[in-house]
Amino acid sequence: MDDRVGVYRTDRKDAERTFNALWSSVERPPWEVRQVSIEHDKVAILAPYLASVRTACDCACGGGDFLDLVAERARFTEVVGVDIADNALARAEKTGRYARLVRARLDEAADKVAQRFDLVMVGEVLPYLEDPLGDFASVVDGLTAPRGIVFLAVAMGRKGLTEREVEGARALMRDRGFASLEDRRLEYYALGVVPRRRLGPLSSLWVQTHKTVLVWRAPSAWVGGPRAA
Ligand SMILES: C[S@@+](CC[C@H](N)C(=O)[O-])C[C@H]1O[C@@H](n2cnc3c(N)ncnc32)[C@H](O)[C@@H]1O
Repeated sequence: MDDRVGVYRTDRKDAERTFNALWSSVERPPWEVRQVSIEHDKVAILAPYLASVRTACDCACGGGDFLDLVAERARFTEVVGVDIADNALARAEKTGRYARLVRARLDEAADKVAQRFDLVMVGEVLPYLEDPLGDFASVVDGLTAPRGIVFLAVAMGRKGLTEREVEGARALMRDRGFASLEDRRLEYYALGVVPRRRLGPLSSLWVQTHKTVLVWRAPSAWVGGPRAA
């Protein structure tokens, strides 16, 4: 297990430094995607909703390896990728799948991208964020088009997202009138140790027990934000 993947809950002010350090190479991404069967399982969950999708925003796109798998099943005309790590964006550029790559944190993405999309992907990033639900809400509100699809995939377990936070994401989408299309649990197991220089000595073990994969559709009159009570 590559211990570089054991980053979690990064303060906004530290996020850029932390993930640029993690992305030390363009050729060798910190996370393997194509050879990992659960990543293909995630694509299979999203695939039935791709037929009418033409534009997509890949939030925290990393090196574009996951988007590359999705794009094989889609007919995208324009994909925009957002990430904070330079080498992630450089790797994503090499896939040739993105019309535009934007260097931004998730909480800044809506302002910097300034566009709405048929598909908003938020894959494998929320557990790393200081305010996962706040950042998720900001990309949903600012980037999703009316009747757009939102795809969320998160690792669960020690250092992953908590069940309570996932319930918070479900509530947030209910409040906005999104229809739930998929709410799936994918079983797998992974563990590792975060290098001590990043943490105190007490909580260095991370364990992931499963992934939660959710897909929603925005209402046709969607303009962003929760419905008035
Ligand atoms: C595990 S990778 C996920 C890549 C891809 N979305 C996937 O599903 O395979 C997490 C990515 O999130 C990026 N990231 C971390 N914090 C971020 C933030 N606050 N805003 C934008 N990107 C962030 C990292 O640089 C990294 O490339």
